[in-house]
Amino acid sequence: MCNYVLAFDSGTTSNRAILFNHSGEIVGTAQQEFEQIYPQPGWVEHNPRDIWETQLKVTRDAIESNNVSPSDIAGIGITNQRETTVVWNRDTGEPVYNAIVWQDRRTAGICDELKARGLEHFFIEKTGLVIDAYFSGTKIKWILDNVEGARDLAKAGKLAFGTVDTWLIWKLTGGKLHVTDVTNACRTLLFNIHTLEWDDELLEILGVPKEILPEVKQSSEVYGKTEPELFGGEIPIAGIAGDQQAALFGQMCIKEGMVKNTYGTGCFVMKNTGSKPIASKHNLLTTIAWQINGKTTYALEGSIFVGGAVVQWLRDQLGIIRSSAEIEELASQVPDSGGVSFVQAFVGLGAPHWDQYATGTIIGLSRGTGKAHIARAALEAIALSSMEVIKTMAEDSGIKVNELRVDGGAAVNNLLMQIQSDVININVVRPKITETTALGAAYLAGLATGFWKDLEDVKKQWQVDRKFEPAADKGKLKKLIANWEKAVKRSKAWYE
Ligand code: G3P
Repeated sequence: MCNYVLAFDSGTTSNRAILFNHSGEIVGTAQQEFEQIYPQPGWVEHNPRDIWETQLKVTRDAIESNNVSPSDIAGIGITNQRETTVVWNRDTGEPVYNAIVWQDRRTAGICDELKARGLEHFFIEKTGLVIDAYFSGTKIKWILDNVEGARDLAKAGKLAFGTVDTWLIWKLTGGKLHVTDVTNACRTLLFNIHTLEWDDELLEILGVPKEILPEVKQSSEVYGKTEPELFGGEIPIAGIAGDQQAALFGQMCIKEGMVKNTYGTGCFVMKNTGSKPIASKHNLLTTIAWQINGKTTYALEGSIFVGGAVVQWLRDQLGIIRSSAEIEELASQVPDSGGVSFVQAFVGLGAPHWDQYATGTIIGLSRGTGKAHIARAALEAIALSSMEVIKTMAEDSGIKVNELRVDGGAAVNNLLMQIQSDVININVVRPKITETTALGAAYLAGLATGFWKDLEDVKKQWQVDRKFEPAADKGKLKKLIANWEKAVKRSKAWYE
């Protein structure tokens, strides 16, 4: 019997490898950031070689520094930044272009054309997604249209497309496997979430040849093994899920109606809606949460493009804090934001607004405004944009959300969690392990390999760290929300 499961958490700004034991505890971890490439305003790229090499390095570090033998690892579960698009040559294994990151807005014009053709509902019905530059489909089209010779090579079956999970598995298996799972496939604008197949009509509209697409698998099954020379022995690859779906699973939101919010680069609120896809009436996404033992579970999602990244912006671009952790102390120096509203629409607005041309906005500045007010307004922005999505979810289902499970890097910020509870007026519950994204991937791999027997076996591992209860002054809260709504309006359609 193996002692470990290994999770790859391949995120937007860093890659990590985390070893978990049978109790779901972290026993070893390694992490490395990689370069963010901004060739033009609104464009965001990664070098796919960086993604692979940093993931390889952290995995070797985690294994070697903990003296773990590959034969003692039951399986690898991969969770990844979703939608980010890699296209590579099948013969050489070389990418034909940088990875176009989920935040990249270069295909906003292609999306406008699709909308002008009246195709919005067609896409929503089949994919559960709104037409937006966020998703992979228009990014693939851009690469095939703009990289010389790419379209011909694609038609000849010489190119492969993948999200980051697919790219890593291709590299891990020496090009033997070209696969993804349903949770990643359903973020491409090309996958029909009802038939669970690539959709010929959507492929035709976006001009994507079927030859480049990976085979779509379940989220928890043994797909293959790593090449023996990579880690000194083969390791089964046994779980795949997009990071937000993995977090929903790691939070054990396995019953219909349960909701989590992950405060990572962005913020992603997800609600388990059970075995049927629920169409949103208010611009939320219908998405696949996971597929296990042939059973598909669906979710509603509100995607907020900038969450914790606003804190990084205050650190790296404005320099008003030296580390992300400092924001809590700085923002606590003032009782409120002094009338400042901060809309963190650095890469447009996601749910529920979907404005590709919105821009970051700080409004309500006065002579008395200081950096503590700006810091506090930034935390409020994270909480208020999550509030909009949670309210919308309640409107969609007609059922009030009664508890929010939280995780991700910024969930350790107690002030932010308190503001979150105040503005949504429900309890916010933080678990002991906030690394739920990696944990979810580990669970998926551990269930596929018999490391854990069944869901009941893993469910008991989830434990509360702290509960935050609403405690805001109602009058102040009303003003805060009203100011936010006005500021959001001002942030819209700036680039148009
Ligand atoms: O859809 C994008 C999402 O998967 C990125 O997640 O953790 O990098 O904010 P994160």
